[in-house]
Parts: sequence; C-alpha cells; structure tokens
Amino acid sequence: MTVHFIGAGPGAPDLLTLRGRDIIAACPVCLYAGSLVPKAILSHCPPGAKIINTAPMDLDAIMAEIKAAHAAGQDVARLHSGDLSVWSAMGEQLRRLRAEGIPVSVTPGVPSFAAAAASLGAELTLPGLAQSVVLTRTPGRASSMPEGESLTNFAATGATLAIHLSIQNIDRVVADLTPAYGADCPVAVVYRASWPDEQIIRGTLADIASKLGEGITRTALILVGPALAGEGFAESCLYAADYDRRYRPQSAESPWSEWREGDD
Ligand SMILES: C[S@@+](CC[C@H](N)C(=O)[O-])C[C@H]1O[C@@H](n2cnc3c(N)ncnc32)[C@H](O)[C@@H]1O
Repeated sequence: MTVHFIGAGPGAPDLLTLRGRDIIAACPVCLYAGSLVPKAILSHCPPGAKIINTAPMDLDAIMAEIKAAHAAGQDVARLHSGDLSVWSAMGEQLRRLRAEGIPVSVTPGVPSFAAAAASLGAELTLPGLAQSVVLTRTPGRASSMPEGESLTNFAATGATLAIHLSIQNIDRVVADLTPAYGADCPVAVVYRASWPDEQIIRGTLADIASKLGEGITRTALILVGPALAGEGFAESCLYAADYDRRYRPQSAESPWSEWREGDD
C-alpha cells in the first residue's frame, strides 16, 4: 500500500501528467483538495473508488482516512492543485506518514506560475532583464513570513516575482515593490490560469490595483518585473549563429569539434 501524492495541475483537466492520470486510475481511494483540484480529473478514478474531498477536513481526519486505507491494503491517490513542491501542505502529511511507516510516492504537476506564464505567452527569464524567478507570497491569516523573505528584500534583486496567495493584498504588494521596480514596472495578474473563466489583467505598478475587477479576490497570481514587458532584451547566445557550443562547433579548433551525438 502506498500514498501517491499527485500534482493535479493549475485547473485545465488535461494539464495532468500521464503518470498522475495512470496512478489515479489504479487507486481505489482518492483524496483531493476540493477547493482547487478540477473535478474532471476525478473521472480517471476507477469505478467504485472511494473519492473524498478533503477541503472541509482537518489533518487528523485526513490521516484517519489514509490509515483506514492502509489497514485495508488500498493504495491512495492524494491530489493537490498545481505542483506539490509549493504551498501544497504535502510536507506535514509526509511527516506523519513517515512516522507511521506508510510508503509514499510523489508525482509532480504543472505549477500555477508556469500556467500563468503560458497564458501570458511570456518567458519570465529574459537576457539582461531577469534571470531568476522568485516564487513567493505575502503573509496570510494562517501564515506569517520568515524574517528576510519580505517583498522589499526580493524587490532588491530585480528578479521576476511570482506572488501567490496575495491578490487580496495588492495595495501592499504595490507599495512594497514600487520603490525598487518603479511605478512603470509591468505587472500581470492572471486569475484562474487555464480554467474556462481565466482572466488576464496587464498594467503597471501604478495602475494594476485600479484595473482589477471586483471578482478577482482569490486564485490569482501577481507577476511583476521588467521581463513582463517582453521587450528591451538581447537575444540569448544559445541560438546566435557564431556561438561556439557542443551542438554547433564553429571550427576544427572548437573544444566541441570532437563531440558526437550520444557523448556526454
Ligand atoms: C495554496 S496555493 C497552491 C499553489 C500550487 N501548489 C501551485 O503549484 O501553484 C494557491 C495559490 O496558487 C495560485 N494559483 C493556484 N492555481 C492558480 C491558477 N489556476 N491561476 C492563478 N493562480 C493560481 C494563487 O495565487 C493561489 O492563491
């Protein structure tokens, strides 16, 4: 018996890995985080599967369901939205499962920041503008931020920021970022990326708050940084015609001239 954690992706049911789909299809028990996991993904569960929405449950109740499945020798598919490596609450479940000696596996999913970038048709790392992406959030009712992980600190890097769980704090986000990025810094808010009711709002730090509609109060990403402009950057060396590299040695003297497909 194994508990299989599976990243269910950002919303569109077909943004699920084939591995995730096949594991769901093989598990007689499925626990899913109902607030964001698309219901269509549950159609991969086998007939007769026990399907439980964990949104209204606490950790003890979730563990009780898993332990019951463990006692019955039944594999569990445990679905969380996006990818499991960020804000999934997988860590606390893993700790308890390991303490109980219950085997686990982890299958990644498409994270919401990647889905939002795809909806924008944007690369978040552009040469000379940004070479880092910071996945972060602002403090919430249930979560404080570790000292040092403030927006003003991240702003000092000039990196592209992908700010989660914070649309309700947009005024604070703008106030914290404007001194470092400037009022004309591009911002994009992507609401429910990849869902049928997805919305994209583009603006700057100066006007993004006033452009947000009344309905955008949750499930949105705030992307900030000069790379969001999608212009004003140099082309990368990677595809430059005269760039000497492993796959395109430029001369017999190139260190790559002896390299052949299949070599390391
Ligand atoms: C609890 S976190 C889950 C993050 C998830 N594990 C991931 O990989 O993206 C929920 C936050 O992620 C962001 N989010 C999740 N799905 C989203 C989507 N489809 N579109 C935009 N933002 C999304 C929002 O900022 C939301 O408040």
